[in-house]
Amino acid sequence: MINYLVTGGCGFIGSNFIKFVMSLPNTTVCNVDKLTYAGNPLNLSEFEKNDRYSFYKVDICDKKTLETIFKSKKIDIVVHFAAESHVDRSILSGIEFVKTNVEGTQSLIDVSREYSVEQFIHVSTDEVYGSIDDPGKFSEESELHPNSPYAASKTSSDLMVLAAIRTHKFPAKITRCSNNYGPYQYPEKLIPLMVSNILEGKPLPIYGKGENIRDWIYVGDHCEGIYSVITKGRTGEIYNIGGRSEIKNIDLVHKIADELGVVPNIEFVKDRLAHDERYAIDFSKISKECGWYPKIGLEIGLKNTVSWYENNKKWLDNVKSKEYMTYYKEQYETS
Ligand code: NAD
Ligand code: TYD
Repeated sequence: MINYLVTGGCGFIGSNFIKFVMSLPNTTVCNVDKLTYAGNPLNLSEFEKNDRYSFYKVDICDKKTLETIFKSKKIDIVVHFAAESHVDRSILSGIEFVKTNVEGTQSLIDVSREYSVEQFIHVSTDEVYGSIDDPGKFSEESELHPNSPYAASKTSSDLMVLAAIRTHKFPAKITRCSNNYGPYQYPEKLIPLMVSNILEGKPLPIYGKGENIRDWIYVGDHCEGIYSVITKGRTGEIYNIGGRSEIKNIDLVHKIADELGVVPNIEFVKDRLAHDERYAIDFSKISKECGWYPKIGLEIGLKNTVSWYENNKKWLDNVKSKEYMTYYKEQYETS
């Protein structure tokens, strides 16, 4: 048996990753999640009665409780997703980002060291590199230049992991991935927000002129990328993960509307502060060393994603809680 401890497993990528790991033979998963607005245990309801799965509603900053969990389970591999993950929220208020992303990561490193885990995977983002002009791409050697409070907190957590690797020979690996999309993504991020607004007949808010470019990766490809780093990556190394699908926001929103068969009701709104122009990833290192490359292109990935949301309107309504409405109002309806 290989025993995984996954943090943030009730969020978007974490839920998809747990489904992936549970489909492998001889694995157990212990999911540690605080259940913030972004965490939804129903994403994993299929495992409620499965002996190989356990769930703990715990804040990763709570070291004492983490210790009791690590003590009772023999954890081999920690995969650390738990984070405050949304740039716009970090612009409204940064403190939770420092608490969870920086302090929480250090707390998890400390307990993982205490219980001598074999591997610690720190799931990070390409946003640590800032923005890059065409035709450049971020490599693992690119300068760290975070522009949002979210990106700065993730960069800080990467630095704490790197310090633990250098100081304590901590057996960690870092992955830095581009923008994910797919089932179970909270409708504050671009793709599910646009799908949700189209389904509700609401306007589609595009920041600035919509010319910013992101490299989109289907969440299943990201999960396989992380798994390839677990099984084939070298300890102490950083691996970029990208989707080979760069597109301007405005063009992406048109594609989403086409997929849903509507003429988009676009509303150009105030630009995001310090809005990164372009993200682009050189993922040749993970390809060469781990044999990984993205398999699902934007056309198919978007089709799957849009139809998942159309078929799971209940899920969408359920997560659009009072908290979501308050956030939406603050972000989009005040100027
Ligand atoms: P998400 O916001 O959907 O989920 C985050 C999860 O973490 C939630 O279930 C939440 O309840 C949990 N959480 C938050 N604070 C916690 C705490 N203090 N203790 C325990 N649990 C806590 O995020 P996501 O989009 O799934 O991203 C997961 C990870 O991947 C993050 O570390 C993010 O930085 C990274 N990442 C995301 C993307 C992307 O496009 N979404 C791209 C690259 C990297
Ligand atoms: P987002 O999904 O928040 O991811 P990130 O900021 O981490 O890249 O945003 C993706 C792009 O879409 C980004 O350039 C900002 C833009 N955007 C909008 O134009 N309107 C929106 O309502 C949102 C949420 C994002």
